[in-house]
Amino acid sequence: MTDLDTQAVIEKPLSEINAFDPAVIACPHAYNKKLRSEAPVHFDKNTGLYMVSNYDLVLEVIKKPEIFSSKFQQALEGGQAPSEKVKAILAEGWEAVDTMLTQDPPEQRRYRRLVDDAFSPRRVKALQPYCEALANDLVDQFIAKGECEFVSEFCIKLPLTVIADQLGIPREMMPTFKKWTTDFVVRLSGMATPEQEEDAARGIVEFQKYFAEKLEYYKQHPTDNIISNIANAAIENERPLDTKESLSILQQILVAGNETTTSAIAEGMYLLLNHPGQLTKLQQDPSLIPNFTEEILRLSTPTQNMWRITTQDTELGGVKIPKNSAVIIRFASANRDEVLFSDPDKLNICRENAAKHLAFGKGIHMCLGAQLAKMEMNTAFNVLLKRLKNLEIKYKGKQPEYPPNVLLRGMTELHITFSE
Ligand code: HEM
Repeated sequence: MTDLDTQAVIEKPLSEINAFDPAVIACPHAYNKKLRSEAPVHFDKNTGLYMVSNYDLVLEVIKKPEIFSSKFQQALEGGQAPSEKVKAILAEGWEAVDTMLTQDPPEQRRYRRLVDDAFSPRRVKALQPYCEALANDLVDQFIAKGECEFVSEFCIKLPLTVIADQLGIPREMMPTFKKWTTDFVVRLSGMATPEQEEDAARGIVEFQKYFAEKLEYYKQHPTDNIISNIANAAIENERPLDTKESLSILQQILVAGNETTTSAIAEGMYLLLNHPGQLTKLQQDPSLIPNFTEEILRLSTPTQNMWRITTQDTELGGVKIPKNSAVIIRFASANRDEVLFSDPDKLNICRENAAKHLAFGKGIHMCLGAQLAKMEMNTAFNVLLKRLKNLEIKYKGKQPEYPPNVLLRGMTELHITFSE
């Protein structure tokens, strides 16, 4: 998929563009711009979905959970019921239940309260020296080669190790752990083949069996890690979480904590390598790194889109939306809204309002791991820019590839070269 493919699609009238066209999914920015200028609330008859694309309207949706519900589990699973084969595989595990991301208040708050403290700014700050040591270890493993495949050798490993350590998973299980994350992402992609769906369902059941056993263990042997805290948590101090609820929470921490941060670090490197002037500026003044992190999230958020379902007939931006409609809130588009961000497609590491992006959402569902993700990104770029000199893209002119996914966007590979 190239920019030319995307250009050909974008030149059509909006009514003829399918939001799930692979060319749009691979490179959504031109489509988002067209939506913002022509129809900030647009009914895409090709997918049957309402697209919300400008900043103020995205904010309005996320601030009204009573009208725009997050109970979109089915939509998350691709908008269609699983095949009989997938159902049979999933039946060997635990039924999916709605906890945080796919739940509404007041239930969502009850679950969320149980894990907020584990990801609080205080806890995250305490993890910084450990995260820095991990980032240095990863660089040690490839620096002498003068090149690396940055996604697999750094971007995947850093957040994966952090979250696995937080969950108390042995390091040798890391590849299996990564496979489970990918299985959930495949299931969420809305665009998987039947074979991929079946393989992913098998991985999900494996994940459930592994963690169900851990939860049982920590009920008997409580200690201070996230699984143990969840295993022994009680809803409103009244009843313990059941296995289904605990697994749902763990799954969200696993998936949301990995793929997103991995993609954000890869995007940050790609942006820098395509803007050598900004790279030099950042190397000369590393105090700009936290703002650069915000700018990565604004320009290239991994969570491009999210679902909502209307609970009643409503109106948004002058457009009537019937009850039970599926709405796609386009965070990536809100982040490039020209009303708020001047020259919005441009990387500007000194942009004063970069942190106003909506990459982590806002309000009650605002990302549980926002502080953790930002700490990991800041730490990663501090270490990388200190240790890797003469950074360059290895295959110049080659555009990154993105697996098709309605919600998440993350490049598969990025080969880079450098000197010590
Ligand atoms: C750059 C990295 C990340 C991005 C861009 C991101 C983005 C988001 C967004 C946009 C939401 C809100 C969704 C909505 O409004 O429906 C969200 C929710 C969530 N995120 Fe993240 N996230 C990131 C990293 C993490 C990490 C590291 C964790 C690990 C704990 C995490 C855990 C969660 C959870 C559990 C929710 C659901 C919260 C709720 O509904 O109460 N995320 N994230």
